Amino acid sequence: MDTSFERNKTGKDEWLTPPELIRALGKFDLDPCSPVKRPWDTATKHFTLLDNGLTKPWTGRVWCNPPYGNETNLWLDKCVAHGNCIALTFARTETKMFFEQVWSKADAVLFLKGRIRFYHSNGTQGDSAGAPSVLIAYGIKNAEILEKSKLNGKFIWVKKWDKLTLL
Ligand SMILES: C[S@@+](CC[C@H](N)C(=O)[O-])C[C@H]1O[C@@H](n2cnc3c(N)ncnc32)[C@H](O)[C@@H]1O
Repeated sequence: MDTSFERNKTGKDEWLTPPELIRALGKFDLDPCSPVKRPWDTATKHFTLLDNGLTKPWTGRVWCNPPYGNETNLWLDKCVAHGNCIALTFARTETKMFFEQVWSKADAVLFLKGRIRFYHSNGTQGDSAGAPSVLIAYGIKNAEILEKSKLNGKFIWVKKWDKLTLL
């Protein structure tokens, strides 16, 4: 199993989401972190490293599978601020980042069954990822889309769980 991160000449991570997974979640207006040379569209509009999608204004429904490492926190922070987004990250549920950006701010999560086989930017598929993945919904409509999706995994409302624990 290849669990290493792939780096392109810009030094950034290039592990692409299987297109059928994104299709299962409906149409997205923007992918703010997509490869400079993408093998397929993931949204109507794309920002790449050349634009620096973190510094651009985000509009509409956003798909965000962000760069790995410490940077992920910044991208999820922007997802929280935007409020209309589905993000995909590794399910490192115990981390500070997960507690700050997911457990306390997301509307819902869907833990995917099995491991994703991400794609290389040339369109070929890699081996299984080195960790499980989770889809994170920001915004109630995105949470409902996750809940109704046919993706194989475990869906959990995060905000409603918070409300229940207050009762
Ligand atoms: C994990 S890949 C996901 C690609 C794509 N969003 C998908 O779901 O298939 C992260 C992508 O973010 C891009 N990236 C890294 N830093 C970026 C930045 N500052 N602005 C925009 N894109 C960036 C990388 O080149 C890479 O293509």
